[in-house]
Amino acid sequence: MANQEEIKKVELQFNQEIEKIGQESDLEQLRIKYLGRKGLLTMMLRSLKDMPLEQRKVIGPMANKLKETFEHHLQIKKEELKAGGEIKQSIDVTRPGKKINLGHLHPLSIVLRQVVDIFNGLGFAVAEGPEIETEYYNFDALNLPAEHPARDMWNTIWLDGSKSQNQKERLLLRTHTSPVQIRYMQSHKPPVRIISPGQVFRFEATDQTHHFQFWQLEGLMIDEDINLGHLRYIIEAFLSRFFGRKIQSRFEPSFFPFVEPGLQFSISCPFCKSKGCSSCQKLGWLEMGGAGMVHPQVLRNVGYDPKKFQGFAFGLGLDRLAMHKYHIPDIRLFYNGDLRFIRQFKL
Ligand code: PHE
Repeated sequence: MANQEEIKKVELQFNQEIEKIGQESDLEQLRIKYLGRKGLLTMMLRSLKDMPLEQRKVIGPMANKLKETFEHHLQIKKEELKAGGEIKQSIDVTRPGKKINLGHLHPLSIVLRQVVDIFNGLGFAVAEGPEIETEYYNFDALNLPAEHPARDMWNTIWLDGSKSQNQKERLLLRTHTSPVQIRYMQSHKPPVRIISPGQVFRFEATDQTHHFQFWQLEGLMIDEDINLGHLRYIIEAFLSRFFGRKIQSRFEPSFFPFVEPGLQFSISCPFCKSKGCSSCQKLGWLEMGGAGMVHPQVLRNVGYDPKKFQGFAFGLGLDRLAMHKYHIPDIRLFYNGDLRFIRQFKL
């Protein structure tokens, strides 16, 4: 015999079960369970006739209403399942896609690619050399024999186990990319037109503008009739393209044993047209690197005839170039792996 409590229980149970249903055949089972010939609600309705009148007056309308409600819910659910089924079968191409997190280039890689691109356009090929170098290539061949005081210009990281070997074969981490000049000239006849980007290492303390490991760009051009005018043109053409505006260069005397004359060059500040701003520390000029005409002794060391061939070489810091271009205040940001910094360079 049904009472109000039982009716409420059946309603609750029905609601819970219909919620979980995922396909139409299950929905039909549910209908039979409650509204079929021997269904739970059907049996309750059937028992009405045996009830005392007073009770029937209350239970009767409740049970009949519930029957209507169940039928209504079953109908709605049926439509829902139909609609859902269609969505599953066809892909809605207008819905926004899921964002996939792609990796991207490190700022130094971006700059490296730009630089290589520009120099390729100027007719320069890329040459590479080892990061672990011998004393001969890093120093001697560059006109820096053992005990030459100018060796102190580069605080060198010597490698273990190098002491007992033949002096020229001693190993070190290259302090500059200039040894690639030697390796390239030894294996190629002039004319030479190369750049050599690469990592170099110095036994030095690290601060905002210095790192014990950084990137250099070496340039070398040798032919029968090369002079400093060519150097200046190449430097200005390269940097104007790199910064996207006209750049002027300024050369001052300096000393490197592998060039004669030796020079140091700066460029007009690309951000303030040499008026002075925070990027150039109000100087109007940015220091770029070293350069000069390749020393005749270096040419002789690689078997070139200095009477016939001459050319220029230059070296500059790629990290510094990237720092200027993107206004990065601290060189250590390139190397400490902080993704918050790196992610800003996602294109
Ligand atoms: N190798 C020099 C350095 O690291 C730079 C340089 C390269 C200077 C080529 C002159 C010519 O300081």
